[in-house]
Amino acid sequence: MMKLISKNRPYFNRRDLFAILKFGQRGNIKRFEKRFAEFVNAKYALSFPYARSAIWALLKIWEGAGSNYGSRTSIVKSDFTNKNEVIVSAYTCTVVAHAVIKAGFRPRFVDIELDSYNPKTEEILSVISDKTKAIIPVHTFGNVMDLDKIVNNLPRKDILIIEDSALCPKPIYKNTGYPNMVSIYSLGHTKHFSTVEGGMVATDNEEIYKKLLEFRNKNFRKADLFLHFKNFLHFFIRYFIFGKTGYYFLDALKNLKMLEKFYDERSMNEISLPKDFNVLFSEWQARLGLNQLGKASEILEKRRKIAEFYYNELKDFHSDVISQPIGERRSDRPTTSLRGSEAQPLSQKGLDEATEAILQKRREVEIASRHAPLCSARGRNDEIKFLDSFNSLWSHYPVRIIGRDAKLIREKMKQKGIEAGVTFDYSLPELPVFREYRDREFPNSKKAASEMINLPNYLSLSDKDTAHIIKSLKDILKSI
Ligand SMILES: Cc1ncc(COP(=O)(O)O)c(C=O)c1O
Repeated sequence: MMKLISKNRPYFNRRDLFAILKFGQRGNIKRFEKRFAEFVNAKYALSFPYARSAIWALLKIWEGAGSNYGSRTSIVKSDFTNKNEVIVSAYTCTVVAHAVIKAGFRPRFVDIELDSYNPKTEEILSVISDKTKAIIPVHTFGNVMDLDKIVNNLPRKDILIIEDSALCPKPIYKNTGYPNMVSIYSLGHTKHFSTVEGGMVATDNEEIYKKLLEFRNKNFRKADLFLHFKNFLHFFIRYFIFGKTGYYFLDALKNLKMLEKFYDERSMNEISLPKDFNVLFSEWQARLGLNQLGKASEILEKRRKIAEFYYNELKDFHSDVISQPIGERRSDRPTTSLRGSEAQPLSQKGLDEATEAILQKRREVEIASRHAPLCSARGRNDEIKFLDSFNSLWSHYPVRIIGRDAKLIREKMKQKGIEAGVTFDYSLPELPVFREYRDREFPNSKKAASEMINLPNYLSLSDKDTAHIIKSLKDILKSI
């Protein structure tokens, strides 16, 4: 039987199913927003159909459209022609830049750090000009970016900071002082917590919250039946047939382009927002969201454990083969190069032994860490300290493959029944649709886009799955 370990998988269980089927229940949207605000430690939260819709709406109110908007159609169709800018990472989800342009702004791209994959703080500060209206710093792959450094060095206080926490749903870092600050979250089906699709804005700024609420209620409409059906279908597909065999067939259908009507693929060829980008979040999504938040610590802890396992398994690879998420290898670590005599494929018997060896080592590490004294986030031992250096929430486990073809490795992993994804296989300024906004080179972003492999990291992965993933990656690296 063909099987495929998917690159992402939301954690939907029977309680989620029952929650969404409680059709009569009302008032959950407000309840979910309140609960979400508490969860991220903010005063206010407001739901949206997507995180990108939240970015779009925030920029609209920041530009002043919020104060005198008229009918829904005029605001949605209006096309600003001003040249005001929003600073955006060159290596982030393409829909962020789409929302910026659709709101009537020019994206001003900045390059990234190659360890955290977050935009470079100095570069953000250096491109701020009179035209800058907003900055969208992002915690890429869950790696927390230090926003204090931006906030404390802003030349003006009228710049809106939209902290993009789509991949980092509970930042450990919390900015305290800067008033014009909001955070956006995504609740899409690939995220830590999912309401199938969805977004959230959280802020402590009452004025921004009230303006945004007013803007949303005037300009967003209720979901129609087709949309409910589409989102329900997504839920049921993930709930019922998202096992490894079901996913294999789903993937095959997707490759045959038979599911396009139901997938809102990110468009690479045109600047666009989804048709339903201005539809209100629905009651059943809120019920699902409330349930999902109840599982937050379980979800986050499992992702951290998997990341720790991957890190420990891969840490002996030489830095000219692989770059782990935590930064370039430290020179004081012993390194093992896989080149030369070690680069031999294992025998079939060897493969099984190798999997068992990985599982055994993992059991030992887990027992050891259970007996280790509990301490703060930073460090039970050297490995963990290193792992936590960005306080990551591990939306993905990013590995860069140096000097080899990352795409080929992803293909080979698929042959072994593993969908090793690549969340952003592009550097935004290189995409034809954003060419006009490219004012220089973005070498790190380009490098990350071409070398990246994201290993699966989600709650329902078993120890056997992760051992298989690691062993397959190691085997492939040895064989090519
Ligand atoms: C970093 C980042 N920001 C924003 C978004 C947009 O989220 P949504 O799909 O909810 O609009 C994504 C989507 O994956 C993302 O990865």
